[in-house]
Amino acid sequence: MADTQKSATLTIGDDSYDLPIYSPTAGPDVLDIRKLYGQAGVFTYDPGFTSTASCDSTITYIDGGQGVLLHRGYPIDQLAEKSHYLEVCYLLLYGVLPTAAQLEEFETTITLHTMLHEQMQNFFRGFRRDAHPMAIMVGVVGAMSAFYHDSTDISDEHQREIASHRLIAKMPTIAAWAYKYSIGQPFVYPRNDLDYASNFLRMCFAVPAEDYEVNPILSRAMDRIFTLHADHEQNASTSTVRLASSSGANPFACIAAGIACLWGPAHGGANQACLEMLKEIGSVDRIPEFIARAKDKDDPFRLMGFGHRVYKNFDPRATVMKQSADEVLELLGVENNPVLQVAKELEKQALEDPYFAEKKLFPNVDFYSGIILEAMGFPTSMFTPIFALSRTVGWISQWKEMIADPQNKIGRPRQLYLGETSRDYVDIEKR
Ligand code: ACO
Repeated sequence: MADTQKSATLTIGDDSYDLPIYSPTAGPDVLDIRKLYGQAGVFTYDPGFTSTASCDSTITYIDGGQGVLLHRGYPIDQLAEKSHYLEVCYLLLYGVLPTAAQLEEFETTITLHTMLHEQMQNFFRGFRRDAHPMAIMVGVVGAMSAFYHDSTDISDEHQREIASHRLIAKMPTIAAWAYKYSIGQPFVYPRNDLDYASNFLRMCFAVPAEDYEVNPILSRAMDRIFTLHADHEQNASTSTVRLASSSGANPFACIAAGIACLWGPAHGGANQACLEMLKEIGSVDRIPEFIARAKDKDDPFRLMGFGHRVYKNFDPRATVMKQSADEVLELLGVENNPVLQVAKELEKQALEDPYFAEKKLFPNVDFYSGIILEAMGFPTSMFTPIFALSRTVGWISQWKEMIADPQNKIGRPRQLYLGETSRDYVDIEKR
């Protein structure tokens, strides 16, 4: 915890309480209210945690006003351009960029863990054929705790390390197999001579009867999607992982909880919802109708892929994703794809509209990722699983940081109770 020289005074009635203020290395100061209930007998109230820092962290920094995202201090655009996913994984996990020897060793370790226990196939086969791949991922990742007993003891640093490597290594296999199962094709085993992204693409698109040659531009774009989604500080799914882990639950159970949280359309499900929305709009002339609906207070419709809890400026990931979308669509010769035309025109019209400007609603990372993924051949149902795969390293890095933190204790928020006060039970015949 940072040292504090400053404090704030809270006055309630005739009583005053000093609250320490901590200054971070970047970002707003933080008021320490941990002793408030003990001293003043009041709780703070912050549904949605819009003003609450839940932990110390040294992993990721976001300045939403400036559109800045740093991993261990390195800007996301530099990482997306100069680095690659497994190097970013190393950076997130260990806090520094690896030397060439460290990176080689890390890549070898991850590569050696890509296979799944053969019996795990029974889990996949137990799902209905039309199950959403996210449902399969939640189930299969949770089930890893039943297969990898030797890495569930969270008090053992070595076991935590192995669990981290296993999760990063096996997630592409799990996501690809969830897809293969849903389309009735045989599972394709990982191939350790391929890089992380190419291996995932091959496991998704090869069949035993015909191999899949990975195009390096597509594999680079896939790797960028993984990199851009790798971590995003204390978002809903990461906070879910931390809260689940605060009880001492094993890492596979905690990551399964994170995947479940990510599934929702306000979070990781937004890329699927965004592409579905673009298709529903269908043509450029219908855009004004949908913009009007997004602005209508009586209509629950929102522009998917727009707005962010933290970014009140361009999402820096969206800028890189837009460049990637242009490259991939040009390579595949689909620059005139109607969905892309709708996306580009929608972005233009929304950014020119005072409603979106006043509310600081800009395109987020999901606005373009779905277009790239569809062009690569993924169905919309695979968009969120790919996000989950990418975010796994972020969840694990935050989980490791939390367990190593001596301040770590079970997360237990309080509430503003507005229900009935104590009343006597009424027998059924008298109600
Ligand atoms: N379209 C239209 N209006 C919007 C949108 C949108 N996409 N997003 C927010 N608004 C409006 C709200 O109606 C609200 O208006 P009001 O102040 O008049 O009531 C105002 O902007 C603020 O919105 P909140 O919901 O309070 O903002 P919050 O920070 O809670 O929500 C969220 C952020 C959930 C991302 C929201 O912008 C949204 O639903 N966007 C669409 C879904 C989406 O793209 N999610 C992806 C998030 S990024 C990620 O997970 C990788």
